[in-house]
Amino acid sequence: MTAEVDAPRKALPPPLVEGRTTLRMLDAQADRAQVDRLLARAVPDDYLLSMLDRWLAAGGVMGGFDGDELVAIQRLDDLGEGEGWIGAIRVAPERRREGWGRRLTQWAIDVARGMGMSTVRLVIEDDNVASRALAKSNGFRSVASMSHSVGIAPAPASATGLAAAPLRPVDPREVPDPRELRGIRAMNGLLLTTTPRPMRFVRASRERLVRMAEAGHLLVAGDDLRAGLCVVGPPGPSSRAETRVMRLFATLGEDDLGTFEAASAVYRSEGAELEGFPPIDGDRLPRLRAAGWRSGEHAFWGEQVQLYEVRT
Ligand SMILES: CC(C)(COP(=O)(O)OP(=O)(O)OC[C@H]1O[C@@H](n2cnc3c(N)ncnc32)[C@H](O)[C@@H]1OP(=O)(O)O)[C@@H](O)C(=O)NCCC(=O)NCCS
Repeated sequence: MTAEVDAPRKALPPPLVEGRTTLRMLDAQADRAQVDRLLARAVPDDYLLSMLDRWLAAGGVMGGFDGDELVAIQRLDDLGEGEGWIGAIRVAPERRREGWGRRLTQWAIDVARGMGMSTVRLVIEDDNVASRALAKSNGFRSVASMSHSVGIAPAPASATGLAAAPLRPVDPREVPDPRELRGIRAMNGLLLTTTPRPMRFVRASRERLVRMAEAGHLLVAGDDLRAGLCVVGPPGPSSRAETRVMRLFATLGEDDLGTFEAASAVYRSEGAELEGFPPIDGDRLPRLRAAGWRSGEHAFWGEQVQLYEVRT
C-alpha cells in the first residue's frame, strides 16, 4: 500500500529464544533475502513480493527461525487507541502443522499486550481452513462477516437510472456520529480504516472518522452525510494484481447504491478498479450486481471473509 503513515515507533520487543527456535522482529536489510525466499514459496504469486522493500521498511514484521533458517513470518501493526492488526502470516510449506503459526501468533499477541494493545484483529477468507484453525487455536473469535470484492464500476448513469451526485470531501467539522451510519452498524461498530494504515478494521470512533476526513479519505455523495458517506483509500496495488492502481472503498451511509454510483463516475474516469468490503447484511451485493458492477480481469467478487478478534 502506498502513503501509509506509520504509528509512532515504540521500542522493539526483545527476541524470544527457546532451544533452536527464535521469534524476533525482522530487519528490513539483514533479513530481506530470507523473507524473499520464504514468500516465493509460501503462497503462489504473493502480492507482498512486489512491494517487499516498502513493506519491510515500515516495520512490524516478525519472524520465526529454526536455528538460522527463517520458516515463518507475520506482521503486527499498532493502529492506536489500544488496537492492533495481524496480517501476512506465512509458514514455509514444508514446515506447516509443526506449530510455527500458533507460536508466532501467540508471540504477536504477547508483544501487542506489551505495547498497550488490548484488542488484536485479523481477517481470513472463509475457505482458508488452515488459517481459520490457526486463529481458533490462538483464541480469536469471529466478530463480523463481509464480502471482499474487487469490482469494476459500471459507466456512470447505469441501468438503475440513479443520478450520480458528485462526490466531495467531507469537512472534518461535519463528521457525523458513527452510530448513525449503517455501514458501521452492519459491521458491529467496526470501520475499514485508511489511517494510520489502509485495509485494517478498527473500532469506529468520531476521532477516527475526523482523521480520515482530514486525510481526504472520507467523501460524500450529495448533502446527507448519513446517506452518502464513503471511505476512499489512497491508490495502491491490488491484492490480486500488483500492476493495477486502485483504491480502497467502503460505504458507510444508507444509500450504498447512490454512493457507489457517484464513486464509479470518479473512478471510471481514472481507469481504476474499486476494492471494498461491503458487509453481508442483506441485499448489497445483488444490488451492486444489478447496477452493473462486475468482477475485474484479475479480480474477484464477493469472496466471503470473517473478521476475527482476540483480547490480549
Ligand atoms: C495458515 C498457516 C499460516 C498455518 O500455519 P501452521 O504453522 O501450519 O499452523 P500450526 O501448525 O501452528 O497450527 C495451528 C492450528 O491450526 C491447525 N491447522 C493448521 N493447518 C491446518 C489445516 N491445513 N487443516 C486443519 N487444521 C490446520 C493445527 O492443527 C493447529 O490446531 P491445534 O492448535 O488445535 O492443534 C499456513 O498453513 C500457511 O502459511 N498458509 C499459507 C499462507 C496463508 O494462507 N496465510 C493466511 C492468509 S490470511
